[in-house]
Amino acid sequence: MLKTDTELCSLLGIRYPIVQAGMAGGATTPELAAAVSQAGGLGTIGAAYMEPEALREAVRKIRILTHEPFAVNVFAVQPPDDFSRLEEVQRALKPFREELNLPAPPDTYESPDRREALLEVCLEQSVPVISTAFGCLDRQQTRKIKEKGIKLIAMATTVEEGLEAQEAGADAVTAQGAEAGGHRGTFSLDRHPDGALIGLMSLVPQMADTLRVPVIAAGGIADGRGIAASLALGAAGVQIGTLFLTAKEAGIHPLYKKAVFEADGTDTVVTKSFSGRPARGIRNRFINEFEKSGTAPLPFPSQNTVTKELRAAAGKQGEPELMSLWAGQSAGMMTEEAEAAAIVRRLIEEAKKVLG
Ligand SMILES: Cc1cc2nc3c(=O)[nH]c(=O)nc-3n(C[C@H](O)[C@H](O)[C@H](O)COP(=O)(O)O)c2cc1C
Repeated sequence: MLKTDTELCSLLGIRYPIVQAGMAGGATTPELAAAVSQAGGLGTIGAAYMEPEALREAVRKIRILTHEPFAVNVFAVQPPDDFSRLEEVQRALKPFREELNLPAPPDTYESPDRREALLEVCLEQSVPVISTAFGCLDRQQTRKIKEKGIKLIAMATTVEEGLEAQEAGADAVTAQGAEAGGHRGTFSLDRHPDGALIGLMSLVPQMADTLRVPVIAAGGIADGRGIAASLALGAAGVQIGTLFLTAKEAGIHPLYKKAVFEADGTDTVVTKSFSGRPARGIRNRFINEFEKSGTAPLPFPSQNTVTKELRAAAGKQGEPELMSLWAGQSAGMMTEEAEAAAIVRRLIEEAKKVLG
């Protein structure tokens, strides 16, 4: 009989096999991560866009709020900047900048690469778990993590990537289905320019049959039925992002939260318009008009860097049509805000009921 007490629980020292996804960009406050961990899941700080000092502070705060394990999520890979088509992209962005009363953009940009510094903070703070997106950490980084006794989870979107992550030392692999909100974790966009888009139902059993390490199902899960189904498909746990955006503790703009509640699941799309990397979010005017302009976005991270000021201004001016509203296909299942601990409790009660 399937049980909610899985090998992932013993691996990570958690009560329930529920990972709150690390979501870069401010959603995953220390309060959110700590509440999830305290409730028996694994809370995660999405650190990729944070300054190292802010991450250090967040880790300290979590440790004040809970003694339970938690994770820090970082991007393993960052391609070099490519601003060769900057002028063309700025032309397509001009109407949005004008609408938001932004001054003329700078002539040059540089994307910050904080990966090494963020990992240093994780090592220095001996965080219990590090999770990664977009690829694998290198051998030296992995060795340092292992020496500290830190558990490593890598996200993958194909069986091949899952195997690569396992070989590179991941203690567990997150299988990200096409339903998932946020960036596609696909390692090589050369082979899959729009990100590999295998549905979770097909991805999890293949991943579970092939890998030695526990598989965590991610994408479209927002209730206990999704957890029970994932366990039935061979997963040892689930990772949930979009649902936790609706937690009281989530650090997102109120209009973003409102958009998640209003989305009915048909209105999320995978787009490169905001960041240059395929990511699933709620379709809005920015996506429609940028795509209609016929201008190809710059590759990640350059497009993300160039649209940053615009997205921030949209947030400040309360214009959700120009914000990046990352969310997955489960958005249609969300009806009301709740405390993160209550979300975890509900999920596990529902899962136990389904599992009988
Ligand atoms: C707002 C948002 C931001 C995200 N940022 C990250 C991130 O920084 N790192 C990461 O590994 N995954 C990120 N993800 C993807 C999650 O890890 C996970 O795959 C996804 O949320 C699962 O699907 P769901 O949203 O349907 O629950 C993000 C997801 C969302 C919704």
